[in-house]
Amino acid sequence: MTDAAAVTYNPFEPGFAEDPYPQYAAMRGHDPVHENPLGIWVLFRYDDVLRFLRDPSLSVEDANAAPTMLDQFVDEVLGEDRDREMGTRAMLNRDPPDHTRLRKLVSKAFTPRRIEGLRPRVQQLVDEALDRAAGGGRMDLIGDYAFPLPFAVISEMMGMPPTDSDKLRDWSGTLVRTLEPVVDPDVLRAIAEAGEHMRALVLDVITWKRANPADDLLSALLAAEEHGDVLSDEELLEQVMLLYIAGHETTVNLIGNGTLALLHHRDQLARLRDDPSLDASAVEELLRYDAPVQMTRRVTLTDVEVGAKTIPKGVFVVCGLASSNRDETHFGPTADQVDIGRPNAKEHLSFGGGAHYCLGAALARLEAQVAIGSLVRRFRTIEPVSGPTWNGRINLRGLDEFELVVAP
Ligand code: HEM
Repeated sequence: MTDAAAVTYNPFEPGFAEDPYPQYAAMRGHDPVHENPLGIWVLFRYDDVLRFLRDPSLSVEDANAAPTMLDQFVDEVLGEDRDREMGTRAMLNRDPPDHTRLRKLVSKAFTPRRIEGLRPRVQQLVDEALDRAAGGGRMDLIGDYAFPLPFAVISEMMGMPPTDSDKLRDWSGTLVRTLEPVVDPDVLRAIAEAGEHMRALVLDVITWKRANPADDLLSALLAAEEHGDVLSDEELLEQVMLLYIAGHETTVNLIGNGTLALLHHRDQLARLRDDPSLDASAVEELLRYDAPVQMTRRVTLTDVEVGAKTIPKGVFVVCGLASSNRDETHFGPTADQVDIGRPNAKEHLSFGGGAHYCLGAALARLEAQVAIGSLVRRFRTIEPVSGPTWNGRINLRGLDEFELVVAP
């Protein structure tokens, strides 16, 4: 496509959720600092996105942005008296000093040493799932493997009591759609309802944990909450929801999309199978090639110049992580190919950057290295029964189902 006027960013275009990369490439070429008709700006190039992620003068608080047409639509559907505070206390949505205080409280549980200590348990969960798949000769990559692993790991880290995981999966899958542009009133209502259910469940869990404290993350947060100056009740609730959801709704896409990429690039799959020392670098390349979280956002507090354009004060700026990861000016002419030994794969922006850089990055890396490396070494035959079913999401873009036949 060469005509600039013909290039447009439309995530609602049919096929976008399956493959957004041609649109990203066109936007990087023709309109890399894009003002969307909804009043939102979108950055597509690596250098611009990296600059925004790291810029401490930008905000992540919605209240600092003027309402967009999407906000007006939400008001119309849910009513003006809807709970506008919901979710705003999670660290992902706070600026300093609140962000600094909240992140410090939680980060102790995510030090590289603590995470590395989880390796034997992650391997055990992976081996159990692979044993079951070997027994049946088949697996649904998502439902039997990529989803249950991070779900079990974050539940155990937090010290959650056994819960109805099907219901929870449903609710959290609906709730994460707040990270997507939603234009369907039914979906908006479903999100609000799922939020209420999740809140009620997490409140029950907190009550249970107060009576059953142990050596886990939730007990540590409760101890902090008891010194009310450190963490309020509402803040506690929202950090727990954030960790719980971020802990599995993202990593499932890394394992799912990453395995799919290897199945589409069999030479790279064979290379990984033969050389376990490539596990870590392969996961970086898979994070780069198909970002599990396609975008994050910042809010401008002043006018900001980007190239020849000026992004005004008080607007949402979507930072295109997945688009940046395919930017040829940074990753070179092979940016659209999978190379599990790519020397600079780790420069991908899939975990965001700056003060909000993903707190769970080390955990996600560990889970994916063990899950993907073990899968390709356990089975010589890994064959799709039919094409994957995509989840239809624009941001937390991944698979819903992917039936595979497997054999040693
Ligand atoms: C492949 C898996 C994952 C991906 C791709 C991912 C991606 C991201 C991204 C893009 C951000 C926003 C960064 C920014 O705006 O600069 C983020 C923040 C965050 N992630 Fe992850 N994440 C993953 C796994 C996890 C896991 C396993 C956990 C925790 C158990 C987690 C917890 C968090 C938290 C708490 C934040 C907020 C950090 C802050 O605001 O300071 N993530 N993640």
